[in-house]
Amino acid sequence: MGFFDQRTLITVADPEALAAAAAERLLARIAANSGRIAICLTGGSSPKKLYALLASDAYRGRIPWQRTHWFIGDERFVPPDDPLHNMGMARALFLDRLAPAANIHPIPTDAASPDDAAGRYQRLLQSFYGADALSPARPLFDLVLMGAGPDGHTASIFPGYPAERESARWVVGVPEANVAPLVPRVTLTFPALASCREMLFEAAGSDKRAILTRLFDGENLPASRARSVDQTVWLVDQAALPENFRG
Ligand code: 6PG
Repeated sequence: MGFFDQRTLITVADPEALAAAAAERLLARIAANSGRIAICLTGGSSPKKLYALLASDAYRGRIPWQRTHWFIGDERFVPPDDPLHNMGMARALFLDRLAPAANIHPIPTDAASPDDAAGRYQRLLQSFYGADALSPARPLFDLVLMGAGPDGHTASIFPGYPAERESARWVVGVPEANVAPLVPRVTLTFPALASCREMLFEAAGSDKRAILTRLFDGENLPASRARSVDQTVWLVDQAALPENFRG
């Protein structure tokens, strides 16, 4: 079975078009839900243009900030004001100016350990969800944003690490990262990330082409295993697109 039998590939010209397409998908997910909305953000450099766009005049007025809640799929275990902090990056680019503080849900990196932070975040997610077990009929998130790292990791689920095999817990501590930055991580697991109406990967730039070639060929890596219970979309720009997917 091909990689895109159960996923959708959307190609765009460049990183600007990619951010605009991602913003439109986020708004479509918001428009489809008249109640409380839950968005799971991601870190790394890929989503930065999207986050900046959401704060722009063209988009900020189209988001119902009072009923939209913001989570993060993985975090570097560093203080919230550290430049490496994923939620800190999202806060600086758009959340702090626009979202009510009570709607921003960071992973608590002031915890005693990554495992402790993971346990606390799992309890927070379960309380938000209103149950301790996820039901495919009622996804936790409206949208989960994702990225793919050079080793095929996604969120902070690295190839061959125990987090890859976790099937019960929603969030786990990762004592050591496989790629830079080499700081401990806290990550949502496959079952928690999958609990969404849409999982949206963003990949741009020629640096991503090698890993996308491996993933789209069906190699078994975290980024190729991560999938929504509902829709999974890969948004890819021309520079990142593998040779055999061109034209
Ligand atoms: C993180 C991210 C991670 C990221 C990929 C891609 O904490 O590093 O959440 O999973 O999405 O590593 O990173 P870039 O967007 O920087 O290439």
